[in-house]
Amino acid sequence: MSKRNLSFVCQNCGAAFSRWQGKCEACGEWNTLSEEGGDRSGGPGRKPGRGRLFALEALAGEAHDAPRLSCGIAELDRVTGGGFVRGSVLLVGGDPGIGKSTLLIQATAAMARAGHRTVYISGEEAVAQVRLRAERLGLRDCNVELAAETAVEDIIATLSEGTTPRLVVIDSIQTMWTDMVESAPGTVTQVRGSAQALIRFAKKSGAAVILVGHVTKDGQIAGPRVVEHMVDAVLAFEGEGSHQFRILRAVKNRFGPTDEIGVFEMTGAGLREVPNPSELFLSERDLGQPGTAVFAGIEGTRPLLVEIQALVAPTSLGTPRRAVVGWDPNRLSMVLAVLEAHCGVRLGGHDVYLNVAGGMRIQEPAGDLAAAAALVSSLANAPLPSDAVYFGEVSLSGAVRPVAQAASRLKEAAKLGFKGAVVPEAARSERSEPGLTVNEVGSLARLVADIAAAGKARMAAKTGGQYG
Ligand code: TYD
Ligand code: MG
Repeated sequence: MSKRNLSFVCQNCGAAFSRWQGKCEACGEWNTLSEEGGDRSGGPGRKPGRGRLFALEALAGEAHDAPRLSCGIAELDRVTGGGFVRGSVLLVGGDPGIGKSTLLIQATAAMARAGHRTVYISGEEAVAQVRLRAERLGLRDCNVELAAETAVEDIIATLSEGTTPRLVVIDSIQTMWTDMVESAPGTVTQVRGSAQALIRFAKKSGAAVILVGHVTKDGQIAGPRVVEHMVDAVLAFEGEGSHQFRILRAVKNRFGPTDEIGVFEMTGAGLREVPNPSELFLSERDLGQPGTAVFAGIEGTRPLLVEIQALVAPTSLGTPRRAVVGWDPNRLSMVLAVLEAHCGVRLGGHDVYLNVAGGMRIQEPAGDLAAAAALVSSLANAPLPSDAVYFGEVSLSGAVRPVAQAASRLKEAAKLGFKGAVVPEAARSERSEPGLTVNEVGSLARLVADIAAAGKARMAAKTGGQYG
């Protein structure tokens, strides 16, 4: 290997440098550069010399729908957009212990049951360990082919023999290594090289390949963000360690939508699908407590009701604390600023904690109104009606803006027995759910006044009951 080929590659972002330095100039991380050999191959089967000519085609040519293969797990199919696409490569990322291996052994088993050839390659566990897990899941008799291997060339050679497998799981991409790259296993270059080889195999053979990727502390798929760009779809497996709920979310998908989620529950017998997640997320509510509001959200095409919990308490610190789980801290700051500026709610002397129940993560701005309601409810010590849902976006001017799919949010609320909904002043036609009283609020100030009035009435009733 010539000296010129040597380079130092940042293990965090993949940037290459000609000499070692303490800090990566590309991503700003310290101590992430490590020495790696270059890529020996210039590409698949390339000889140096003149390029080969190829025919260009018209855009107006015939198009084929991506041939899909349902895996038999409805929540997983929903996230992939209707099943695994042949010849596509999927990256599944998630914290260690979240259940990636469990989900994928269940998926391979389900496909094997449907009569397809499926292969599960583990680079982390011995075959006996994988068998043990399968036994626990009651999948012992499924026709899944197993191997504990890490050499990519050997894996591809083996898979190319006989009938092409329909589904290949590589658990995990970080443990794979290829001869084509002269770096230690686990380095960015190795991971990238191995992923490239496996992607080439998928495209050539038509097998669907799933790569498992670990996630770093800050939530990125470890080392190679580059792999995220190379694959067709990236699924993130999320969940709080203490909760049994797991959410599979499409982060990127070349063949389908990216806003769908699949909801699972980790049980003693593996992952169980949760077809009706609203019921699950609302199953452990503290009814009648101040500081909780039910948000009627939408995840992809599916409405989802979740509880938002807030605690506003006088602070003993110079700078009050703002802590938020499951929601964007920037949106919390914004809602707090709007409450201060337009609604006369002073929060400068209060710590603010906000939590989305059940380990769910809310990403849509429609959650603003529910969060604001929970915050004001906690501050005023006035419980919100427990049978009401909230949704709406709060703008910086203090107005409550309409959001998409109001009708399906209201429908879900009515279905789960809610009696009221606090919503933006929106399309009036979308308010006809039987048994659901829709209360329109045009501004956040209006909502705050309503909650405060309810709180005062409650106090009066209480003292009246005590002394009267
Ligand atoms: P695993 O799939 O090994 O996680 P990953 O591959 O993402 O690291 O799941 C490990 C966790 O799941 C472990 O803490 C035990 C738990 N688990 C169950 O609760 N029930 C089960 O049936 C199985 C197989 C695992
Ligand atoms: Mg695993």
